[in-house]
Amino acid sequence: MSKPSPISTKSSNSKRDAVPLLDLHRQYQTIRDKVLAAVERVCASQHFVLGKEVELLEDELAAFTGAAAAVGCASGTDALWLALVAAGVKSGDAVITTTFSFFASASAITRTGARPILVDVDPHTLNIDVAQVEAIFRQKRCYKIRAILPVHLFGQCADMDSLQQIAEEFHIPIIEDTAQAIGASWKERPAGSLGVAAAFSFYPTKNLSAYGDAGLVTTVDPEMAEHMRRLRNHGSPRRYLHEEMGWNSRLDAIQAAILRVKLPYIQKWNEQRRERAKHYDTLLAQAGLMPKGEPPIKPLQTSPQAHHVFHQYVIRAERRDDLRNVLTDRKIGTEIYYPIPLHLQPCFAYLGYLEGDLPVSEEAAREVLALPMFPELREDEQKWVVESIAEFYS
Ligand SMILES: Cc1ncc(COP(=O)(O)O)c(C=O)c1O
Repeated sequence: MSKPSPISTKSSNSKRDAVPLLDLHRQYQTIRDKVLAAVERVCASQHFVLGKEVELLEDELAAFTGAAAAVGCASGTDALWLALVAAGVKSGDAVITTTFSFFASASAITRTGARPILVDVDPHTLNIDVAQVEAIFRQKRCYKIRAILPVHLFGQCADMDSLQQIAEEFHIPIIEDTAQAIGASWKERPAGSLGVAAAFSFYPTKNLSAYGDAGLVTTVDPEMAEHMRRLRNHGSPRRYLHEEMGWNSRLDAIQAAILRVKLPYIQKWNEQRRERAKHYDTLLAQAGLMPKGEPPIKPLQTSPQAHHVFHQYVIRAERRDDLRNVLTDRKIGTEIYYPIPLHLQPCFAYLGYLEGDLPVSEEAAREVLALPMFPELREDEQKWVVESIAEFYS
C-alpha cells in the first residue's frame, strides 16, 4: 500500500485545544433562553407527564416527517417496541434486522417475544444488505417473519426502494429504526414515513436531542397510533381498565417542551452537519489519505438517493485502534460504533450465529471510527483532526 503524503503538521502542538466528539454546550448557549422559558412554562403548568406539550410535539413531528400520526414515549428503545407490537409482532414470530446497529434494534424485537434474524450489511454504507434480506424470504424457513426493521445508520437511510419491493411482495410491514436519522430522506421522502411506523430516539447525543431520555413513533396508520397510545400507558384505554399488557412509557412534558424548542432548528443543524462532512471529505482527500487503490482511510459512501444527515461521520481506518490511541492522546474525541456486531453479543448466543457468519459487519467492527461531528464543530478543529490522522499515517 502506498503511503499518503502527510500534510503540513507545523501547527501541531500538544497545547492544542481538545476536540470533543460532541459538544452540547455550544448548542445550549444558542438556545438557552428559549429552553429555560419552555421548562418554566411546564413548571408553571405543573403538568409533567403527557398532556398538551406532548400532543403538540406529536403533531409537529407528524407534520415534519409526513406521517399520519406520532406517539411520544420514554425512549427510542420503547419506540421500537411499541411499533413492533402495534404492527402485530408477537411471541414466536421473527423480525429481520441488521447485525450492525445499537443493541436496541434487536433487544426491542426480543422484548416482544420474537426472534431477531440478523443480517449483514452493505460494505459501502454499512446499512442492511437488502440482497440478504431477500435471500431469507426465498429460503425455506421455520419462523413466521412478521416485520423488517432496517436501521438508518449514522443518519443515512437504508435502501428503501429495494426493501419496499420485498415488503410488498411478501406482505410484511417495514418498521424504520430512525433513531439516528431525523431529517434524513430517501428520494426526498422523509425518514419516518417510509414504512408503516418509525422509531425515533431523542437521547441527548442524537441530532434532535432531549435533556434526558425520550422517544417517539411516527406511523402512517392512525389505528396503530391509537394502539401505541394505549400500550405506552399500561395498555389502558381509560383509567384502571387494562385490555392488554402495556407498559409505562409515557413522555415527560419537560422533554417534549425542550424538543419543541429545538425542532425548528433541526434542518439548519443537519445542514451544518452535512457541510462538516463535506469538509472532512475535502480535508482527507487533500491530505492524500484517500488515494485510489488501498487507502488507509475510507469514508463511508452516501447513496445518491439518500439525504444523509450525518449523525456520525465514520471512516474505516487501517490500524484503527492505534490511530484512535494517537487521537485520544491529542484529546481528539472518537468512538467506535460498533465494536461487537449484535450476532456476536453474548446475550444473543442462543440465536446460534458464529464468528465469520456475517463477515462484512465483523470487518467493519474492526475498522470503523467516528470522528468529531456536531453542527458547531469549527473548521480549525476539523483541520487539526485530519492533520493528526495524516501524521499518524505518514
Ligand atoms: C440505531 C438505534 N436504535 C435505537 C436506539 C435506542 O434509543 P434510546 O437510547 O433512546 O432508547 C438508539 C440509541 O442509541 C440507536 O442508535
